Amino acid sequence: MEKFVIRGGKPLAGSIRIAGSKNAVLPMLAATLLTRDVCTITNVPDILDVRNFLQILKNLGCEVSIKGGKVQIRAARLVSTRLDSRLGSSMRASVLLLGSLLARSGRVASPYPGGDLIGVRPIDVHVRAFRKLGASVVLRKRGLHIQTSKLRGAELFAESSVTGTENIVLAATTAAGRTVLKLAAQEPHVVELCRFLVAMGASIQGIGTHTLIIRGARRLRGASVRVIPDMLEAGSFAILAAATRSELRLRDVEHSHMDAVYHNLLEMGVPFDRAGSDLILHKPRQLTACTIRTGLYPNLATDLQPPFGVLATQARGTSIIHDWIFEGRLGYLKQLRRMGAKAQILDLHRALIEGPTKLGGATIESLDIRSGMTMVIAGLVATGKTIIVNTHNIDRGYEHLPERLQAIGADIQRIE
Ligand code: EPZ
Repeated sequence: MEKFVIRGGKPLAGSIRIAGSKNAVLPMLAATLLTRDVCTITNVPDILDVRNFLQILKNLGCEVSIKGGKVQIRAARLVSTRLDSRLGSSMRASVLLLGSLLARSGRVASPYPGGDLIGVRPIDVHVRAFRKLGASVVLRKRGLHIQTSKLRGAELFAESSVTGTENIVLAATTAAGRTVLKLAAQEPHVVELCRFLVAMGASIQGIGTHTLIIRGARRLRGASVRVIPDMLEAGSFAILAAATRSELRLRDVEHSHMDAVYHNLLEMGVPFDRAGSDLILHKPRQLTACTIRTGLYPNLATDLQPPFGVLATQARGTSIIHDWIFEGRLGYLKQLRRMGAKAQILDLHRALIEGPTKLGGATIESLDIRSGMTMVIAGLVATGKTIIVNTHNIDRGYEHLPERLQAIGADIQRIE
């Protein structure tokens, strides 16, 4: 099993290009099943979740070509409607293939989606919607079977679930008649999926709002799309710069997706400038405690709560964390305590962090993608040697992380 070994405690300098968004590209990959034509997706991040997703598509019969960050997929003829159980259960996003395979082939057999252990992560919203669209869903111990003779538009509620909204949109774009989807999520990656589907010939009104109206199209065609910059990567690297008191330039940032991150950085006393699509982080003089409250977009993404948590250990005063979205996203604080952080977990959703505290190297665990990145930031802040185990989590969502950090002066090694 691979580990990262970090010798921290020194400022970093230089620039990092922000990669394409993981949570935007995965639903787009699922959407390519809705046409027999070629789809071209550029700015695709080279991360484990994308590699595994492409492998699932190949197993289903898709022709896949990858050149740099450009991926071309042609789902001319599918040979299976059953998802590989190991790959399917390795990530949450495999759930998106339920909607697209159901629309394409009228049936799908799948393991329960896996991914980060950040809470119970039910799929009741997805299942209710498929049933209302006219599919039968059988839930077995080891997975689910869904089939339909014809999907028909309906009035549905997505309950603000991100992949729930995406799945319903994928299933409804070719369903007969009109689907009205209320309480839709409006994260940038949901918007980008809808725009890609419109480029493929789908009819979707209300994109970017909480109500989507989808008129079923008879046939979708191939289309091209460039994946938006990953706002979670940009937020993570901005926090990394502030926590290590570094001067860092982030390239290819979509500022319009960053309001909540910028608000929290300013509250904590992190100076920064924008120059075109660059974000320039300056060395903070003093970091101040603040309230880190997550919410639905455009509020602060739950995925950035753990990185902000490590920044709070370096800030003067008591920071309050309130993350109501998942009930398992505070576990990283136990790891940080082993490095010297003063963190009190009040309940499943709330914690207090007192700072500033000096962090010292320790052997710690990457619990999921974002808490893994949080451990990397903590290791770079800490004096001495930090060993992070379970790093495959980090590779699921951050492209070539050790190499990109080495380029800005970090002492981080990947070892077997
Ligand atoms: C997406 O997960 C992201 N994953 C997550 O990113 C992100 O943390 C999350 O949205 C919230 O923004 C992908 O896009 C692949 P939800 P998703 O359905 O869609 C409850 C990362 O690190 N819920 O919006 O699974 C659920 O329990 C990952 O990149 C139900 O109750 O999240 C949670 O409390 C981690 N029933 C809330 O809704 C359902 O059927 C939000 O979950 C579905 C969800």
